Amino acid sequence: MPKKVLVTGAAGFIGSHLCEELLGRGDDVIGVDCFTDYYPRFLKQKSLDAVQGKPGFRFVEGDLNDLDLPSLIGDRSIVYHLAAQAGVRASWGQEFDAYINHNIRATQQLLEALKERTDIRFVFASSSSVYGKTTTLPTPEDVVLRPNSPYGATKVTCEDLLALYRENWGVDYCALRYFTVYGPRQRPDMGFHKFLRALLEQRPLDVFGDGSQSRDCTFVADIVRATIQAGDTRTKSQVFNVGGGSRKVLKDILGIMEDIVGTKARVDYGQVERGDVPHTWADISRSREEFGYNPRTPVEEGLRQEAEWLSGIVQEIDRPG
Ligand SMILES: NC(=O)c1ccc[n+]([C@@H]2O[C@H](COP(=O)([O-])OP(=O)(O)OC[C@H]3O[C@@H](n4cnc5c(N)ncnc54)[C@H](O)[C@@H]3O)[C@@H](O)[C@H]2O)c1
Repeated sequence: MPKKVLVTGAAGFIGSHLCEELLGRGDDVIGVDCFTDYYPRFLKQKSLDAVQGKPGFRFVEGDLNDLDLPSLIGDRSIVYHLAAQAGVRASWGQEFDAYINHNIRATQQLLEALKERTDIRFVFASSSSVYGKTTTLPTPEDVVLRPNSPYGATKVTCEDLLALYRENWGVDYCALRYFTVYGPRQRPDMGFHKFLRALLEQRPLDVFGDGSQSRDCTFVADIVRATIQAGDTRTKSQVFNVGGGSRKVLKDILGIMEDIVGTKARVDYGQVERGDVPHTWADISRSREEFGYNPRTPVEEGLRQEAEWLSGIVQEIDRPG
């Protein structure tokens, strides 16, 4: 049955893919985004172009902190809340204000608007960053949360707010802890994007640390499928890991990228950045059991698709605006 849904962060990397998939199954989608200046607007506009003008799609440009949210939510049955200030390394110092506004405050505003709306399913994009440097690998959802960055701390706070609004106001939610998402339209601040770009431009690439760090990385189509499945299911649990099904050491990922691009990487290894964690690895048994999640895309294939997309836009990335 087609649904009426709201997607926040619709011009973003994951949000734009989610809108596309929802429209593909016939849903009526309102997408909202305020085009934060974290990365160039033209990249977001390009992502949005994939859905603008499609039947069933309406775009609202605005900040969740300013919009009339009860009206925006109106007759929607699912709210996918992906809007956020992403990025671990940028979350220190004065920049933290943006994380408070776009992550904590915007989520609280949405929850206020959902207080009397127990008929609506609220799907929240959380992050593996809530786990910090955990040594429990693969990591199940119920380990103690010790984020290693201010960004991760804002996601923990959002999850706490969700639980509070569920307990006190009956808000029906799930929080999906995404593990390193990659693929076409990936944000330019993310490692895979930077590495592939450097290879395509035949420049040296910078790696924070010695390359032995490992990541559970998840292709964007798998993330989108999990997000839709979780929205459609009345789950027993509220919090879920969404990973790619395996983890890879960074040096091996660089080797795969070299094969795809056909160039040898010149790597400058540097200091580990504050906020980074050595390893991530999702235990996805709960997502598998409760909503049938099954990641399908091998890293080799996902990176090939990202490289293909990037090679088509690489010359435009630094253009102003
Ligand atoms: N990309 C990943 O690897 C990853 C991993 C874990 C979690 N997440 C989470 O997934 C979500 C999507 O991430 P992404 O990589 O697509 O990021 P993105 O930056 O590409 O997309 C987020 C979008 O939200 C918009 N936005 C931010 N604050 C807003 C506000 N107050 N009102 C309206 N729009 C607003 C931004 O303009 C942006 O277009 C985020 O919540 C992020 O924290 C992403």
